[in-house]
Amino acid sequence: MYNAIPVIAIDGPSASGKGTVAQLAADALGFAYLDSGALYRVVAFATQQKNIAWDNAEAVAECAKALSIQFKNGQIYLNNADISDEIRTEAMGKGASQVAIHAPLRAALVELQHSFCKPPGLVADGRDMGTVIFPEAELKIFLTASTEVRANRRYQQLIGKNQAANYESILLDLQERDARDKGRASAPLIMAKNAVLLETDHLTISEAVNVVLQNYQQKIRK
Ligand code: DC
Repeated sequence: MYNAIPVIAIDGPSASGKGTVAQLAADALGFAYLDSGALYRVVAFATQQKNIAWDNAEAVAECAKALSIQFKNGQIYLNNADISDEIRTEAMGKGASQVAIHAPLRAALVELQHSFCKPPGLVADGRDMGTVIFPEAELKIFLTASTEVRANRRYQQLIGKNQAANYESILLDLQERDARDKGRASAPLIMAKNAVLLETDHLTISEAVNVVLQNYQQKIRK
């Protein structure tokens, strides 16, 4: 039963920095960390390898059910192969957003996501952590930033990794992904009613982490 274990759900749009904030908050609390976006990225990667079209809802879900996905020391393994770098590309981010619209796939990934919830607690980041996967979460954060700030962060990240980057096309991709993630019928990206809105345009990573931790301390003191 995950209800007895504290969960901090951090949802928000692509490139908002929620992954970094969630991981650091988890480290500070000694909690486990679930990067749910990575699961959709793995599915995009695995289906592409098997030539399964991303718009084929049933085939994508069937493929996902047969996958062995493991997280070890911050790396992601698919059938024992480390695919951490392969899934972090812009193409797999786009693919993840496309496979993620399918309700059968989302249903197939629920149990795996719940299995991350272990004592002493969990910080989970994604799009539907507070709304669908952990609706009883102790604390829900909706972490966001303007599209321009997010595009610039992603641009700097790619440049930092010596990868080719074009600000305009990153901005367009983000707008496209936001529209798809918010507009889909199944578990769309929306702010949970009882979530705390965390706008990070003018915050550093550590300031954002502190806001999460302060909100959590307030919740558990009540
Ligand atoms: O967080 P990310 O950029 O790695 O996520 C990639 C895509 O996966 C995102 O555009 C939408 C999808 N996703 C989702 O639908 N639900 C989640 N909980 C996490 C990610």
